[in-house]
Amino acid sequence: MNFTIKSGNPEKQRAACVVVGIFESNHLSITAKSIDTASKKYLTNILKRGDITGKIGQSLLLHKVPGTSSSRLLLVGCGKEKELDGGRYRKIVTNAINKLKLTSATEAVSYLAELNVKAPNKEGPGKESKDDYWKLKQFVEISQNALYEFNQFKTRNKRPKSKLRKLILMVSDRKLVATGERAIKDGCAIGNGVSLARDLANLPPNICTPSYLAEQAKKLGKSQKSVKVTVLDEAAMEKLGMGSLLSVSQGSRQPAKLISMEYKGGKKDEKPFVLVGKGVTFDTGGISIKPSAAMDEMKYDMCGAASVIGTIKAVSEMGLPINVVGVVPTVENMPDGEATRPGDIYTSMSGQTIEVLNTDAEGRLILCDALTFSEKFNPATIIDIATLTGACVIALGKHASGLLSNNDALAKDILDAGEAAGDRAWQLPLWDEYQHQIDSPFADMANIGGREAGTITAACFLSRFTKKFKWAHVDIAGTAWLSGKNKGATGRPVPMLVQYLIDRCEQD
Ligand code: BES
Ligand code: MN
Ligand code: ZN
Repeated sequence: MNFTIKSGNPEKQRAACVVVGIFESNHLSITAKSIDTASKKYLTNILKRGDITGKIGQSLLLHKVPGTSSSRLLLVGCGKEKELDGGRYRKIVTNAINKLKLTSATEAVSYLAELNVKAPNKEGPGKESKDDYWKLKQFVEISQNALYEFNQFKTRNKRPKSKLRKLILMVSDRKLVATGERAIKDGCAIGNGVSLARDLANLPPNICTPSYLAEQAKKLGKSQKSVKVTVLDEAAMEKLGMGSLLSVSQGSRQPAKLISMEYKGGKKDEKPFVLVGKGVTFDTGGISIKPSAAMDEMKYDMCGAASVIGTIKAVSEMGLPINVVGVVPTVENMPDGEATRPGDIYTSMSGQTIEVLNTDAEGRLILCDALTFSEKFNPATIIDIATLTGACVIALGKHASGLLSNNDALAKDILDAGEAAGDRAWQLPLWDEYQHQIDSPFADMANIGGREAGTITAACFLSRFTKKFKWAHVDIAGTAWLSGKNKGATGRPVPMLVQYLIDRCEQD
């Protein structure tokens, strides 16, 4: 998609389609008003007929509006003007793009960034509204997301469903063009990171194996000079004592890999922000095998890994002035003659022993060794991202990722980033009271903690490997993909992670 920034009068735009907002009760946005004037109340008259009332989700496509130079005008419902906040703005833009997709317009001129979008109160005085940078960057990300297609395995109907190739984003003043261009650059980088994460996750598990993920990471390292990629094989992991990680891959024909992606944008000796992503390319459950219903969705058990790779891509494209390391432990969890038995005890890289009571709680087994491994980078903060527990889907559904941390300031930074990026998380407690649930009579700990508080006990397990650092865990079991008729990866939480990293540049 080609994005450009412009300023100028709506009626003078010679484009295939101009997009403007309409509020509830037929209240016109600024640009809708000037088109109404130029067209001698054409819009007012149409609205009187009641085909559109301005509710969010509504739209009306008009052709050859008198007094204007464009062939189409798309009116988009924006709800009540006073209620327009970040979440509603995102819905409005999504709706506009989805409607544009149904037309045969190849380009469109959008005036939606002129809308006044309320910022949450806590952003403080002078920041009552979202700024132009935010509105334009969101527009770019949302359009990339809405136009995303995954059809590489189709032999028919492969052509893109939409003809849209160019989006022109209008700003109210020439002075805003530079801001707009920055928003486009950053929005595209994030959009590209999200698309990469979605692509990797949507791939079938016979193609997207641990070795495939390692190859893709290397490819990223080749295309971005600032990213150095190294991959450890099983022999190297064995040497490091990663008995916990290797206990998961031993039941699969696919060898495990441990990927490190080091992005250097900051000073050489500056501590990096480390991201660790769960990369189980298929999770059958192992000997504690899963029921067969919807088991195909366990190809998405590498969405944490995909989000880390996508984030490294975005951050390197943006050239952020910080250091970031992505670590991806990747395995396939299969039942086999060599697979782990429930009751087996393994020694992790940290030296702590683990009784594997359920081979389906494998995510934490690979993450704990990857977290210990990450100590060598001396992280400023360390965040792991994982499709870790079905319990998280029950607790928070598909709207919020679960967040647990040993440091409240870090948790707040991540929550704020999610809020700003429209990719939210919600914090759960990580109190000591939960720790005893993973006691084992035979080893230092068990890998499961019973039915109660499954998301928390999983984080309790990980917390035993991250004591030295400011650490947070993001459970994306509910947010990483959608099921049903819209089945597909979402690319979350790439926007939240990138925002967290952008915020670190401004502060330090
Ligand atoms: N990958 C799954 C978690 C999962 C399940 C994510 C369903 C999204 C949808 C993870 O490896 C797993 O199987 N977790 C178990 C843990 C349990 C055995 C303690 C779970 O959540 O059932
Ligand atoms: Mn599992
Ligand atoms: Zn899993």
